[in-house]
Amino acid sequence: MLRSLLASLLCVSPLFAGASNSLLDVAPDGKLLAVANTDNGTVSVVDLKSRLKLHEFPCGDHPEGVAWAGNSGTFLATVYGDDKVLFYDAAKGHQFSLKVDDEPYGIVTTADGKFAYVTHDYPGTVSEIDIAARKVTRSFKAGPNARGIALAADEKTLYVTEFFTSKLHAISRDSGTITDSWAGYDSDNLARHVVLHPKRPKAYLSHIRSRVEAHDARGSIFPQLSICDLWEKPKGEKRRRSIALDTYNDVYVITNPWEAALSPDGKKLYTIYAGTNDMNVSETFDDDYREAERIGRAIRIGRHPRAIRLNPTGSEVYIYNTIDRSVSIHDADMKPLGQVVVCTEARSKDWIRGKELFQSALPPMGSARWIACSSCHPDGLTDGRVWQNPEGQRKTPNLFGLAHTHPLHWSADRDESQDFEYTIRGKLMRGRGLTDGSLKLGREFGSIALEETMAGRSKDLDALAMYTNSFPVRLSPHNSAPGKLSAEAERGQKLFTGTETQCAKCHTGSYYSDSQLKKPFNLHDVGTGTAKDEKMGPKYDTPTLLGIYRLPNYLHDGRATTLMDVLTTHNVGDKHGKTSHLKKEELDDLVAFLKALPFERPPEETPNTVKDFEKEFMYPRPKE
Ligand code: HEC
Ligand code: HEC
Repeated sequence: MLRSLLASLLCVSPLFAGASNSLLDVAPDGKLLAVANTDNGTVSVVDLKSRLKLHEFPCGDHPEGVAWAGNSGTFLATVYGDDKVLFYDAAKGHQFSLKVDDEPYGIVTTADGKFAYVTHDYPGTVSEIDIAARKVTRSFKAGPNARGIALAADEKTLYVTEFFTSKLHAISRDSGTITDSWAGYDSDNLARHVVLHPKRPKAYLSHIRSRVEAHDARGSIFPQLSICDLWEKPKGEKRRRSIALDTYNDVYVITNPWEAALSPDGKKLYTIYAGTNDMNVSETFDDDYREAERIGRAIRIGRHPRAIRLNPTGSEVYIYNTIDRSVSIHDADMKPLGQVVVCTEARSKDWIRGKELFQSALPPMGSARWIACSSCHPDGLTDGRVWQNPEGQRKTPNLFGLAHTHPLHWSADRDESQDFEYTIRGKLMRGRGLTDGSLKLGREFGSIALEETMAGRSKDLDALAMYTNSFPVRLSPHNSAPGKLSAEAERGQKLFTGTETQCAKCHTGSYYSDSQLKKPFNLHDVGTGTAKDEKMGPKYDTPTLLGIYRLPNYLHDGRATTLMDVLTTHNVGDKHGKTSHLKKEELDDLVAFLKALPFERPPEETPNTVKDFEKEFMYPRPKE
């Protein structure tokens, strides 16, 4: 207590609210906390003195970031699914809604509250917003899947992370161009956040490492802390190093580092782990060799923590435990001080339980604790990887619209989402599983999962399946308005549905797939199952094409880098639709059409839709 009081008196905070992206942001005067409630489609305001929720305002489809505009009492929220940044008066609520580029994710503001900077996951840009004028003033190129963003204390440079590579880019605020980059290992993955040291030129990224050549609970996925030196170094000198957060914990494994925060003096780094419901406090050193060391052991916190912030003096730590819907309040040494429920329950109990299991690496999901479903399927997205599975190379698909595209897996060797009990109990996760009794595991692929009916055996397994089936499909940004194709895409549509190319013969119906649960399944050899280590091809289940625009590489083993490659270099002998007769412009049109999918909302029910899924939640939207 005395220590934190002293710290608050001595420390003239060089940090300010909004310096790095988060679901939480403390107002610069330390009085209010803004909270983005991603699953509820709301934002909340918490009074930090009374520790009470003051307001919960409607927001829209998946708010992913909040930031205060200086001490103005206004804060901004990014709404990922609606492509908007909303302006809120902390007392009165929604003020203004600004249309921005696709998939706004992280947001930071300048200390004077004049400008905001927003990352766009797709297409990978940063928008600059003039807050008083309520306008987007500039757009910068940032690298694909830009998510994390931090503003340097001198406010001259923005630091942005790429989600699937964990690459860090420096963008000059002045010129709007990338001035420097720090690449990690090829296996570095899922960096949604970056924090900067307030005094030393260091950036800290918490992320995972996905070793795709291993298919094993103990060798595939690791938690990492990457530290980038932000100054110029002599050629050949390392500017980015990585600390394994699991060995750093001795043998206590923590999973899915999600976010970190630094104390205002930069001496303590707080990191939260969304897969194991715990956290670490580390000391940072003014020493490029030692960098950081853990203080004490991992600390248990609430369920599925996704955000951590400190107040301006560093005397209080706030953690958003999202499945508990609450922010826990701690002192600087992590002694609990209180808890605030920040939003109402907005989804069904089963969906929430399913989400909890999907995000967890704890028993019964895993035994070694390194891997959760979400380590490879972050919020239903791909992890951008091709994994060496027992049956061959397999790209992780997006899980959007899964309820309508059963059977599952590229080789259709699963027919219910409950079949992922085989993944939980298999070599990959080695969990106890969610059902009782033994299970024939066999080779982990093939027909065993198809023979057994897994639905109805366990409430938890049904909940996990329901959650997995319920990721909604979002419209492609490659159209000027819903349902409105460009002239190019419209010509491509004619080619796609025409009898000559045959595309729509297999990519049929509103999900662009002839997948069906009636046996025998529709599987096709389109000339792609030629790899030496392939054990199940050459016939595959037709994948949906909805959302394909944001999903390179292509085909089951990711062999095609671009959509054009699918139609040309990888379509030998016209086995995958007829394309050899098409002129260059016609191929371009066809690609434009593929990128435009989906251009309208697909139906919530088709003859092939499974029963156990939750329809897209109707977010309460603010009136504009
Ligand atoms: C190591 C990464 C990894 C982990 C962990 C993982 N998956 Fe997957 N998942 C994949 C890959 C790769 C594929 C594609 C495999 C294939 O189709 O043969 C896939 C495919 C799927 C599919 C089929 C999608 C479709 O369109 O056919 C579902 C559903 C799924 N996973 C759910 C889960 C669930 C539930 C868990 C946790 C119990 C889980 N996954 C754990 C990598 C992973
Ligand atoms: C005979 C059925 C069939 C026809 C005809 C067909 N496809 Fe496919 N398509 C498939 C199958 C099966 C796959 C999966 C193959 C693989 O992954 O190796 C696929 C994969 C794709 C993919 C990659 C999807 C991904 O997630 O990576 C694209 C893009 C695609 N098809 C577009 C087309 C276009 C455009 C046409 C017409 C020129 C076409 N397809 C014709 C069955 C078909």
